[in-house]
Amino acid sequence: MSGKPITVDEFEENAKSFLKKSVYDYYRSGSENQQTLADNVAAFSRLRLYPRVLRNVSAIDLSTSVLGQKISMPICVGATAMQRMAHPDGETATVRACGTVGVGMMLSSWATSSIEEVAEAAPDSLRWIQLYIYKDRNLTKSLVQRAERFGYKGIFLTVDTPYLGRRLDDVHNKFQLPPHLRMKNFETEDLAFSSKKGYGENSGLAVYVAQAIDSSISWDDIEWLKGLTSLPIVAKGILRADDAKEAVKHGVSGILVSNHGARQLDGVPATIDVLQEIVEAVDGQAEVYLDGGVRKGTDVLKALALGAKAVFIGRPALWGLAYQGEDGVKDVLQILMDEFRLAMALAGCCTVNEIENSLVRKNCCSSKI
Ligand SMILES: Cc1cc2nc3c(=O)[nH]c(=O)nc-3n(C[C@H](O)[C@H](O)[C@H](O)COP(=O)(O)O)c2cc1C
Repeated sequence: MSGKPITVDEFEENAKSFLKKSVYDYYRSGSENQQTLADNVAAFSRLRLYPRVLRNVSAIDLSTSVLGQKISMPICVGATAMQRMAHPDGETATVRACGTVGVGMMLSSWATSSIEEVAEAAPDSLRWIQLYIYKDRNLTKSLVQRAERFGYKGIFLTVDTPYLGRRLDDVHNKFQLPPHLRMKNFETEDLAFSSKKGYGENSGLAVYVAQAIDSSISWDDIEWLKGLTSLPIVAKGILRADDAKEAVKHGVSGILVSNHGARQLDGVPATIDVLQEIVEAVDGQAEVYLDGGVRKGTDVLKALALGAKAVFIGRPALWGLAYQGEDGVKDVLQILMDEFRLAMALAGCCTVNEIENSLVRKNCCSSKI
């Protein structure tokens, strides 16, 4: 590719050409046959937009809010682990980019920068913590308390990972962190996923999860979590309407419709295909967000038309980070912002509240032309 990338896909091509193979594989892969990985993107392409015309779109306002916090556009950065493999500044670069653009960043529990480092890198930025519940509940509690103390505004509790999905590339590569990095939120070599610890012939991360993460968690743990913090809780990884209702019953403030970037159970639906039924089930009792396969401004428009309050991007931010650290993440966010603004204007919407269900339909005319 000559010149600067101008789409998310071009940023990925670029990252592929210079990231170490095992790192690129870890970032890119889905689980097993990667059926859902392909579908997350393909499902957006199956939807057609039905634009309105002649609606004076000379001024467009993209701003909205998540959990009551204002953001410049409904596109935030989701939790992706171990970002210093993409760039030496890792999560601190990502949070600065998000702060500059005016969107939120969800920090992974498995970050290679600590909760405190990320807060200090961009003290005024909007941040949330993504939480895994560890077998060691005191450790889990301390992650929550540290996030609260350092100004994080909510907890995204990952509910789809009692064990790690089987990601074949990571098994082949015996994936583990490079020796100079560790998961910075943890003290001990074991919990920091240090390469000093041997992980055998499997994906090192799969072994780590089986050892450290609590696979016994259940709905009751949302109440346990609520007892620890006054921060709002979002259930991350919901794919069914009945689970969404259950989450609301247990008092979550938000539902993130997610299949973990197709990295957990393979064969589950694309997130955009289940969004609307979940929005209907939740019926305004919590905010509903989506992640998985968002690569273009029109994807964001489609997700909002089907009822998402905002979307999160995972891999696209990593490709930006790999390209040029903070500036690269900013570029990716800026491209998505420009694409989304144009998509709104061409669909006849001046504000995100004007993005309504009738703008989108399943492709009904693919067979004969
Ligand atoms: C490399 C990578 C690491 C991830 N790490 C985490 C994590 O630590 N915690 C978590 O809840 N989700 C994690 N996810 C899932 C993302 O939060 C998000 O659900 C997914 O990436 C969205 O799909 P997209 O990559 O197609 O945008 C990870 C995803 C990727 C690609």
